[in-house]
Amino acid sequence: MDSHLFFRNALLAWAANHLRPMPWKGERDPYKIWLSEIILQQTRVEQGLPYYEKFVTAYPTVTDLAHAPEDELFKLWEGLGYYSRARNLHFTAKYIAGELGGHFPDTYETIRALKGVGDYTAAAIASFAYNLPHAVLDGNVYRVLARFFGIETPTDTPAAKKEFTRLANAVLDTTQPGVFNQAMMDFGATHCTPQQPACPTCPVQTQCVAFQTGKVREIPLKSKAPAKKERFFCYAVFNAGADTFVRKRMGKDIWRGLFEFPAIEWNSRPELPEGHAALRQWLLEQFFSNGNAPDFSVIHISKPYRQTLTHRQVTAVFIEINLTEELPENISIAPPFSGTLRLPRTDLKKNIAVPRLIDWYLREKAGTLSLF
Ligand code: ADE
Repeated sequence: MDSHLFFRNALLAWAANHLRPMPWKGERDPYKIWLSEIILQQTRVEQGLPYYEKFVTAYPTVTDLAHAPEDELFKLWEGLGYYSRARNLHFTAKYIAGELGGHFPDTYETIRALKGVGDYTAAAIASFAYNLPHAVLDGNVYRVLARFFGIETPTDTPAAKKEFTRLANAVLDTTQPGVFNQAMMDFGATHCTPQQPACPTCPVQTQCVAFQTGKVREIPLKSKAPAKKERFFCYAVFNAGADTFVRKRMGKDIWRGLFEFPAIEWNSRPELPEGHAALRQWLLEQFFSNGNAPDFSVIHISKPYRQTLTHRQVTAVFIEINLTEELPENISIAPPFSGTLRLPRTDLKKNIAVPRLIDWYLREKAGTLSLF
């Protein structure tokens, strides 16, 4: 059997007993369908459901919505976020109630022309309300189609949008586009999920290219990597004669249990002050919040060292500081020395493990300064 037909039939058979019950399913009133789709644009179904109920109760028709005071509508919308949706909803309701005499547009193009309605929402309304043959295309649909047909075009490109729009419309059951679109949405949302798709019980597994070639985890492809969370570290390398201070990292991150210099940490790029006096003052504030600092001088600021991890971009700067007075025996009880070990710099790494960034720094220092 042709793979389009196989997919279409299998999906419809799946939908016959797997559709999630939702109040707007089977609804034919375009106003209510539009309302539900706007609510679901940036909102999970479970979160949107009570809002849909509130809105259809408060405003049973598009004219009721058009006549609602904006403050009242915003109050009902409270908690959903993305308020431009509520503003567009009101604007469009007034346009339909006024200019269109309360008649909801009934072609794909006129629906698509409404403010706040994009390709996806227009296809959903056109197919659910009027059975017009327009396939919905969102992240769920990209994923399902990319896996089943084994398409490795990155999905976040304009070329992919064309390719997948054509394919989504080719598999669409044009005799019942509303039913088919709903099946696609629910199949993508509950079965062919991003992380742990239910392949063992999948009705299209036998012809799913991604499954048959072991690529379910890889497909769909993206061309742009998701933004990585950034972490910035400033390490203080205190020189006390031939020794320095390191501390075991506690807490719950990837460096737990490794040793590091006393550190300050940020989630966004910090501004280091310029000039020795300003830097000295800043170090006093950052590292010696109790004001009880031994005499010191800053001798070197390293270049930034950067490490790219799967979900992190890490940057570290090392500030080398000479402690210029004898340290008291009990130095390790006060910050920034609390919990530190005092070790000779030359064999710092002999018995302890350090994060990779610190290792890079130490290796470079070993080549440039005899101290390390
Ligand atoms: N997300 C957007 N529209 C939806 C619908 N009609 N059913 C399920 N999920 C959706």
